[in-house]
Amino acid sequence: MPRAFETVGVVGLGTMGAGIAEVFARAGLGVIGVEVDADALERGRGHIRRSTERAVSRGRLTEAERDEIFGRVRFTGSLDDLRDADLVIEAIPEVMDFKRALFADLDRICKPAAVLATNSSSLSVTAIAAATSRPGRVIGMHFFNPAPVMKLVEVVHTVVTEAGPADDVAALARRLGKSPVTVGDRAGFVVNRLLLGYLNHAATLLERGVASMGDIDTAMRLGAGLPMGPFTLLDLIGLDTAYEVCEVLFQESRDRVHAPAPILRELVAGGLLGRKSGRGFHDYE
Ligand code: CAA
Repeated sequence: MPRAFETVGVVGLGTMGAGIAEVFARAGLGVIGVEVDADALERGRGHIRRSTERAVSRGRLTEAERDEIFGRVRFTGSLDDLRDADLVIEAIPEVMDFKRALFADLDRICKPAAVLATNSSSLSVTAIAAATSRPGRVIGMHFFNPAPVMKLVEVVHTVVTEAGPADDVAALARRLGKSPVTVGDRAGFVVNRLLLGYLNHAATLLERGVASMGDIDTAMRLGAGLPMGPFTLLDLIGLDTAYEVCEVLFQESRDRVHAPAPILRELVAGGLLGRKSGRGFHDYE
């Protein structure tokens, strides 16, 4: 029987972390949402508020259910509040040194039986696990944006992942209403390995003047049956995240399709990060 997690911690309440915290709370789990920066903590709270409000306005949640969901999330600025969590998932920026330092802290703070998970999009779960004294209980649990909507969770196994925690995390994903797939620890796992090459290639086509941004978006929506064109999707993912994932993929694959398109680098340098900053390829202001 898989072990049921009851209290989960989410570290980092950006777009992904806040969405993941909401998913856990909707499934009835107690959530401890951690952001060390007070402004970021408030942004995370606001993200969950807007997302649940949207569900209320669409008749998908009652006001009472929204309040219950909110009541299950405890927002805090201190990692020490994670000491009793059964599972902690990290959703901080894609910088290996930050992740390893955080996992070393979590290893010290969390109870020995706790499973430590990373929502990393592309970094090595094995290298993150090696920063702890419990690498067998460190795993990838990769959600997709927007987390409350997208049905997939990639469960990333390393060469040292123990079977028990892997089964428990897959069972948890199913309890959340998601479909887990098991993937090995290779840069980008499955979805990002395939998706980011395509998105980056779209940016290259734009730079070469093959078609306009609007026409590339329309072409892929109507011609390939995708819910969003590549530039709308890049803006949703966040251009900084897309850029970082492409960099990691390129380092591992050496495949030119992953070499970040210059326009991506330029937009990120200019602070145009997509929806979250109000402007990316498209304008949201
Ligand atoms: N947060 C919460 N809920 C959201 C949401 C958000 N940001 N955006 C949309 N929704 C919900 C809506 O409330 C609506 O729910 P109901 O059906 O219950 O009313 C539902 O999603 C559909 O929304 P809309 O009708 O407004 O819009 P849509 O039909 O165009 O769907 C979409 C929006 C689900 C985002 C869809 O366009 C889509 O699937 N896009 C592709 C997204 C994708 O590929 N994500 C993966 C990115 S890769 C990644 O995340 C990995 C990584 O590591 C980088």
